[in-house]
Amino acid sequence: MKDIFILGIETSCDETSASIVKNGREVVSNVISSQVDLHIKYGGVVPEIASRKHVELIIPVIDQAVEEAGMRLEELDAIAVTYGPGLVGALLVGVSAAKALAFTIDKPLIAVNHIEGHIAANYIQHKDLEPPFVCLVVSGGHSHIVYVKDYGEYEILGRTRDDAAGEAFDKVARALGMGYPGGPLIDKAAKDGNAEAINFPRVYFEKGCLDFSFSGIKTAVLNYINVQTQKGEGYKVEDVCASFQWAVVEVLINNLITAAKLKGVSKVALAGGVAANSCLRSEFIRASLNNDFKAYYPSPILCTDNAAMIASSAYYRMIKGKVSDLYLNAVPALKL
Ligand code: KG4
Ligand code: ZN
Repeated sequence: MKDIFILGIETSCDETSASIVKNGREVVSNVISSQVDLHIKYGGVVPEIASRKHVELIIPVIDQAVEEAGMRLEELDAIAVTYGPGLVGALLVGVSAAKALAFTIDKPLIAVNHIEGHIAANYIQHKDLEPPFVCLVVSGGHSHIVYVKDYGEYEILGRTRDDAAGEAFDKVARALGMGYPGGPLIDKAAKDGNAEAINFPRVYFEKGCLDFSFSGIKTAVLNYINVQTQKGEGYKVEDVCASFQWAVVEVLINNLITAAKLKGVSKVALAGGVAANSCLRSEFIRASLNNDFKAYYPSPILCTDNAAMIASSAYYRMIKGKVSDLYLNAVPALKL
């Protein structure tokens, strides 16, 4: 069978990325230009700044991805792009570039859901992984437990009812004056802290419900910081980080184990930016040994936003004939 090369484009938040992936599994090039430095001083992503930066970067990033692959545009088999969920202005930059490129080289345009892309990062990392499996997708904007029945076929088993896990990490880090994005900073500080120092609340819903809620724990951390400060007792940042992280990880893993048992799967995966968290990864491995399932997770660079995962996901859409037309628009609140 002829090899299929897809160029993926990702601009849903603050990463401008383009990547060429062969047959959905092999990364030929993956260029990621992060805007984090631009947003740090605001403590989070500023949508208007993100869109403007994407406009500046999109062509150079695509050029670089094609050059690093040693290919000509005409050799590509399709153009894939994230069309949601995400920031509308940011998404539109990628969607417009993808449409223009697909039109110019006269190749199919494939629209990819960003959350689906995060799941597909596992296909790149683990060449042997095939559905069915259960996947925990945890990022700055989403926390879902998904049953991946087949390529492109999903059943949501649980989702956050308020903040996403990554959002909670970012907000707690901001309250601790640590900077942005908070997840990696909390992960690092927690290594020198005591995870049992403070007993932050864990939220579980009624039996059989695998939803999450992380706004309560975020508020509990903020209250703890205020009370300790008012009492003049202070607190150890590392202990707050470790205790907060442990509480979040415990809920994520417990619901994930329940989901895996519910579906009777032998394979379970992590995906999304928070899947780079070292505590989540080690607890996940432990859970896999205790509960007899095989654990899959992408390398950190494939956990956070990147276009390789978009190109991988697009491959499985393409072979099922799911291509888009040039009327494609960004859908900021797109559901899986
Ligand atoms: O997937 P991603 O790059 O973007 C979204 O789709 O949202 O995820 C970014 C999120 C941020 O909230 C960031 O703080 C979090 O992932 N994150 C982490 C770690 N690395 C990134 N959270 C916890 N521990 C980490 N090591
Ligand atoms: Zn993402």
